[in-house]
Amino acid sequence: MLLSGVLFGLFLGLASGEDGSAAWLRYAPLPHDSSHSSLPSSIITLNSTRGSPVYTAQQELRRGIQGIFGKTLNNGTSSNQHGAIIVGTAQAYQKSYGEFDDAKELEEDGYFLSSESNQVLIIGQNERGALYGSFDYLSRLAQGKLGAVSYVSNPHASIRWTNEWDNMDGSIERGYAGPSIFFENGFVTDNVTRVAEYARLLASIRINGMIVNNVNANATLLSPRNINGLGRLADAMRPYGVQLGISLNFASPQTFGGLSTFDPLDPAVDAWWANITNQIYARVPDMAGYLVKANSEGQPGPLTYNRTLAEGANMFARAAKPHGGIVMFRAFVYDNHINESNWKADRANAAVEFFQDLDGKFDDNVVVQIKYGPIDFQVREPVSPLFSTLRNTSTAIELQVTQEYLGQQTHLVYLAPLWKEILEFDMKADNRSSKVKDIISGERFRRPLGGSAGVVNVGTNTTWLGSHLSMSNLYAYGLLAWDPALGAEELLQDWIRLTFGHDKKVIETVTEMSMKSWPAYENYTGNLGIQTLTDILYTHFGPNPATMDNNGWGQWTRADKFSIGMDRTVKNGTGNAGQYPSEVAKVYESIETTPDNLLLWFHHVNYTHRLKSGKTVIQHFYDSHYEGAATAQDLVEQWNSLEGRIDVERFEHVLFRQKYQAGHALVWRDSINQFYYNLSEIKDEAGRVGNHPYRIEAEKMTLDGYRSYSVNPFHTASGAKAIVTTSNTTEGTATTKVTFESGRYDIAVNYYDLIGGKAQYELHINNKTIGSWKGDLEDKLGHAPSVYLDGHSATRITFRNITVGKGDVLKISGRPDGVEPAPIDYVSFLPPGVVD
Ligand SMILES: *[C@@H]1O[C@H](CO)[C@@H](O)[C@H](O)[C@H]1NC(C)=O
Ligand SMILES: *[C@@H]1O[C@H](CO)[C@@H](O)[C@H](O)[C@H]1NC(C)=O
Ligand SMILES: *[C@@H]1O[C@H](CO)[C@@H](O)[C@H](O)[C@H]1NC(C)=O
Ligand SMILES: *[C@@H]1O[C@H](CO)[C@@H](O)[C@H](O)[C@H]1NC(C)=O
Ligand SMILES: *[C@@H]1O[C@H](CO)[C@@H](O)[C@H](O)[C@H]1NC(C)=O
Ligand SMILES: *[C@@H]1O[C@H](CO)[C@@H](O)[C@H](O)[C@H]1NC(C)=O
Ligand SMILES: *[C@@H]1O[C@H](CO)[C@@H](O)[C@H](O)[C@H]1NC(C)=O
Ligand SMILES: *[C@@H]1O[C@H](CO)[C@@H](O)[C@H](O)[C@H]1NC(C)=O
Ligand SMILES: *[C@@H]1O[C@H](CO)[C@@H](O)[C@H](O)[C@H]1NC(C)=O
Ligand SMILES: *[C@@H]1O[C@H](CO)[C@@H](O)[C@H](O)[C@H]1NC(C)=O
Ligand SMILES: *[C@@H]1O[C@H](CO)[C@@H](O)[C@H](O)[C@H]1NC(C)=O
Ligand SMILES: *[C@@H]1O[C@H](CO)[C@@H](O)[C@H](O)[C@H]1NC(C)=O
Repeated sequence: MLLSGVLFGLFLGLASGEDGSAAWLRYAPLPHDSSHSSLPSSIITLNSTRGSPVYTAQQELRRGIQGIFGKTLNNGTSSNQHGAIIVGTAQAYQKSYGEFDDAKELEEDGYFLSSESNQVLIIGQNERGALYGSFDYLSRLAQGKLGAVSYVSNPHASIRWTNEWDNMDGSIERGYAGPSIFFENGFVTDNVTRVAEYARLLASIRINGMIVNNVNANATLLSPRNINGLGRLADAMRPYGVQLGISLNFASPQTFGGLSTFDPLDPAVDAWWANITNQIYARVPDMAGYLVKANSEGQPGPLTYNRTLAEGANMFARAAKPHGGIVMFRAFVYDNHINESNWKADRANAAVEFFQDLDGKFDDNVVVQIKYGPIDFQVREPVSPLFSTLRNTSTAIELQVTQEYLGQQTHLVYLAPLWKEILEFDMKADNRSSKVKDIISGERFRRPLGGSAGVVNVGTNTTWLGSHLSMSNLYAYGLLAWDPALGAEELLQDWIRLTFGHDKKVIETVTEMSMKSWPAYENYTGNLGIQTLTDILYTHFGPNPATMDNNGWGQWTRADKFSIGMDRTVKNGTGNAGQYPSEVAKVYESIETTPDNLLLWFHHVNYTHRLKSGKTVIQHFYDSHYEGAATAQDLVEQWNSLEGRIDVERFEHVLFRQKYQAGHALVWRDSINQFYYNLSEIKDEAGRVGNHPYRIEAEKMTLDGYRSYSVNPFHTASGAKAIVTTSNTTEGTATTKVTFESGRYDIAVNYYDLIGGKAQYELHINNKTIGSWKGDLEDKLGHAPSVYLDGHSATRITFRNITVGKGDVLKISGRPDGVEPAPIDYVSFLPPGVVD
């Protein structure tokens, strides 16, 4: 039995336990015996220096071919090319073998790959290119793409970096996969094993730089001990061609260096930065450069001294210039104390207002790093108008792989379709084709530098991002930075084959789940361009639309009893539409031409305003929240249909998350719908909102040791109330008679899982225990937790197919733990096919 199980597993290409650490570099055996005869038998490496990316390529090729075909490559000699893989730089190749035609076509980091019969050539423009070509070849083999190929691949842009928001104490801002792999207790970590493994993953998707610390930077990174530590990190990354960079705190000369000022025009400050920079480059001669967040969200910057942002950026540029370093300067500068009573105030205008007069004033090694939208990684934003404002400044786009506003890796949201919409968007500057992807590459405005920065925030969790399915985002990010013309679905399917194997049903199912995941998330969070509608004042996870208004942060919805949306028109609003080139501005200026999915971003309209679909705004809100949440339920069934086709470890891990998402999508649906129903008092035409015939509210049960509790915000509890235990040491019970007809039901319990305790629950029908569980999601999910009963902590557990008689006694007991008072919202009795 055991043996046949193992054979069955081998047949399907399943490894016994897969913890995710290999990500898409599993090199799993191909499913059917693919002929080995045409494979090369040896490898000729044109650089035998240990630690060089070409040497790494050689090791990787051996490892991959061993894994995929069980074949050990011999060491070839340069005189015998027959049946060999030759890997090296164009220069090294020409030295050994003479002229090579395609060399002229190679651009920096590019490669030539040719695989014909059993002769394989992998020639990089540089060492990094040779490594990229090797990973590309192995990816083809691992996907069973064994046919002959011959092509040159060059990068679309030179800057293909990740940003990691890791703090010196080992925590990660907006990280959902455990603590840092780079830092602990205020210092760079000693053990760089995972750092090297991460660099390997990044090299395989052609990422060439990594900023290792948070943009909200801590100057203690610049201590001698930490500079030495940075050297350790760079040493671990160098064999993979990934260059290290760091974020700087603008005030360091004062707070860390002991100077009386950090004025960028003070010569002592300049000298201080030159000194520090020299020290770092002495230890990391190939450092990529710096990333700076200045005068943003409380961070210090040049404005403190009435200096311009360009003067601030250029100070770092001068220090880095002699070493060939680049300064990425973030455009995320805005005033977070603006006044909503001013109809014309608009945070979305800030970047253009701060930067437009500085165009052309940045040194040539400065790149302005611009978030894709004008606000902050929302589920839907138009492209930032700054991309078309800066014509004489190099720019890069900032994308977020970590799902800060997009479910924090507990909701499946495949982001490549969102990024593609942004990258392919045509800003029509000067009435000429001006796609964002061609602006950031430097091509459109003829800039020397440009590219992408992806905020990733991997952690020590073996899954890297906290969730296996989220890794498709990292994979797609890197390859889109290399070639934005690649399709979102094509990238996804390559990733599925590499991650889960070749089973057709797995490929189809995961494709379908992933491709509808962003539209579903948009549907049940914030649609029509109103932003994510999450809690912007606490964690950016669960629903809380009220937090978006009546504060200075400027993520306003301007929702009142009758109307909603930001009037960003020139004719009557904030003028933001006018920041775009004229053709695009014209589209956004008018309600008629603005696409529905950005309507409320650009216009303030009545809830009864009719969309192009014919529905009113409010009915669209209701419908799409129901449809999006229904899609989230389907994801569970779809994943379940893959049981036995994926190894148990990953199958269970993903299933747990899909079930969580299905429950949390209902929290979102009900919360947002209830909020706008309450505000507008406009009824749902389909009669669903506020009407829950399958629920029993906990506060209406007979309580012993429990009391009713008004939840804040009110719409994150069904009926605005939940129950909590009266003491934090003794158990409480809630009982009620079942009034539903006898039959089989799925019984769902909505409760709140707070951080700071692990309450224990039991559900009984009559005296039979149906199930028990613990409030321990803080150990099982990585999202930012909450200490309150709210939209972040609200969750659901479901017991399937339970036989219940009318008049039976339902009892839930809850044992509080610490500050978690075993909170319960309601219980649903769901007949087959009903979701409530
Ligand atoms: C071999 O690799 C080392 C380290 O990357 C590099 O310094 C050297 O130039 C390389 N030699 C050739 C011939 O490419
Ligand atoms: C190939 O050469 C490497 C050193 O470059 C050595 O470690 C390895 O054992 C050799 N492999 C074979 C199969 O001879
Ligand atoms: C910076 O790091 C030091 C050393 O770990 C720590 O004591 C300090 O609190 C940190 N500062 C901030 C603002 O996080
Ligand atoms: C370093 O980290 C790796 C990966 O987490 C681990 O396997 C290894 O045991 C660690 N080494 C030491 C010396 O702690
Ligand atoms: C940097 O400054 C320190 C003292 O603050 C000095 O000892 C050192 O020589 C300087 N290093 C460089 C590279 O200028
Ligand atoms: C900056 O300028 C403002 C007025 O333009 C002035 O009130 C302020 O004192 C100046 N600050 C500094 C640090 O020079
Ligand atoms: C990774 O996260 C999962 C929850 O997603 C958790 O169960 C597991 O213990 C974590 N593993 C590590 C090594 O952090
Ligand atoms: C024009 O702006 C005012 C606020 O200044 C607002 O109250 C009004 O609704 C807007 N009118 C239209 C037609 O959008
Ligand atoms: C929007 O609703 C308000 C309040 O009911 C009403 O006065 C106004 O005429 C409506 N505007 C439009 C454009 O329908
Ligand atoms: C999202 O909502 C729209 C409008 O209600 C609907 O047409 C679409 O099918 C939904 N998509 C998903 C994936 O939920
Ligand atoms: C449950 O058990 C208790 C005592 O153990 C008994 O008094 C009670 O009648 C039982 N209730 C039901 C509904 O069976
Ligand atoms: C019990 O609850 C009280 C009040 O909420 C709180 O102050 C106390 O810390 C809790 N006790 C424990 C052990 O968590």
